[in-house]
Amino acid sequence: MRITLQVWRQDGPQDGGGMRDYVLDDVSEDMSFLEMLDVLNEDLIGRGEEPVAFDSDCREGICGSCGLVINGRAHGPEVTTTCQLHMRSFHDGDVISVEPWRADAFPVIKDLVVDRSAFDRIIQAGGYVSVNTGAAPDAHATPVPKDDADKSFASATCIGCGACVAACPNASGMLFMGAKVTHLGLLPQGQPERDARVVKMVNQHDHEGFGGCTNIGECAAACPKEIPLDVISRLNKDLRTAMRHGH
Ligand code: SF4
Ligand code: FES
Repeated sequence: MRITLQVWRQDGPQDGGGMRDYVLDDVSEDMSFLEMLDVLNEDLIGRGEEPVAFDSDCREGICGSCGLVINGRAHGPEVTTTCQLHMRSFHDGDVISVEPWRADAFPVIKDLVVDRSAFDRIIQAGGYVSVNTGAAPDAHATPVPKDDADKSFASATCIGCGACVAACPNASGMLFMGAKVTHLGLLPQGQPERDARVVKMVNQHDHEGFGGCTNIGECAAACPKEIPLDVISRLNKDLRTAMRHGH
């Protein structure tokens, strides 16, 4: 396939940046999107030009580091991560735009790489269960109803990629936070810190510059792990309960 890429190039956080066009003449439909970018970078290095900076790690849809806005959509045209997107989703002659996540809370570091450490700080603020030292308890010491365990596990599949923020017109991180609050709040082990957790996470979210949720739903549509919107309802319910309890 012959593909024209329009790629966001930005030297650093202070640079204004802009789109640059690149033509690739020999793209296989079996390449992943990131392998196609690897080919572009080999071309650029061969010509003595600066390669395009982009993030990736697992390339298996697990780590959440590879997000790109492709043709205006977070992670591109399929419900999957950028690393699991393949060039067979495009056609010969296509013009494909590639941009970084756009959100104040995710500043661009270089080209397509953004700083997503705001998510880490939300988790550090409260997205955990404290563990006391001592011997590990028996696995069956704390029974968990199957339905709760399944729902908790489904929420735990959030990989922290940030597509929900990139897709949201308000750049809200509520789907991400809702997934974490649901994951921990459905388990017995998550109960002692449940009130404090949600308040601390929401405060950190707002402090980082993410916007509020206005029920648009673009986040859930862009999520590669199909986290549903109801996790945001659960988050808001937990927040109201925590406030009633005096937090
Ligand atoms: S909720 Fe979905 S889109 Fe948002 S960070 Fe988690 S996996 Fe990514
Ligand atoms: S590189 Fe890990 S999810 Fe894409």
